[in-house]
Amino acid sequence: MCTHKAVLAAVCASLISSAAFADGPNLGLPLAEEDIPFYARYVMIDGTGLPPGEGTPAAGKIVWETYCGQCHGATGTEGPIMPPIGPTQVFPKSAGKFWPYATTLFDFIRRAMPFRTPKLLSDDEVYAVTAFILQRNRVIPEDAVMNAATLPRVLMPNRENFIDLWAKQGERPY
Ligand code: HEC
Repeated sequence: MCTHKAVLAAVCASLISSAAFADGPNLGLPLAEEDIPFYARYVMIDGTGLPPGEGTPAAGKIVWETYCGQCHGATGTEGPIMPPIGPTQVFPKSAGKFWPYATTLFDFIRRAMPFRTPKLLSDDEVYAVTAFILQRNRVIPEDAVMNAATLPRVLMPNRENFIDLWAKQGERPY
């Protein structure tokens, strides 16, 4: 990018000499100490870290229609973006059927969805929309209630088809 051309040279000089460049991109604001737990929360595959609360597929349908359908499809099968209910021709490896752990589904939705406004949902809403996705994938029954006790016990249909490379190599990074 930094060529001999004068116009670019000026831009390059300002980028290189900028104090912000040395410290990082200088975007955003530092997190307040008391906000860190809200962003640092995570759920392990065995359910460690799951919060209190609960949700049903029926409650999750409303969450889905309000926050998810515009990107993943009205029924969760159409897309345009990676529909988590399936498998369908549009997307054969739906998250709600092919991911190995229901706890991971919960964790991902809670930290990353809805895509433009992540962490907007309450824990009850995340339990509910996770229940909705699982039920529509026929992994749990319609009257199931998902919470910190039941979600880790959900057996995802594709779990046994994953290969644990770390176990094969004889060492784990954690
Ligand atoms: C503005 C569009 C948008 C909305 C609204 C949205 N998502 Fe997503 N979703 C995405 C995108 C983009 C990805 C892929 C993100 C990635 O791979 O990092 C994704 C990925 C996912 C995945 C993982 C799919 C896979 O197969 O890997 C799940 C599950 C999911 N979203 C659930 C939800 C739920 C539940 C909601 C509503 C609470 C929601 N999304 C709302 C855009 C959206």
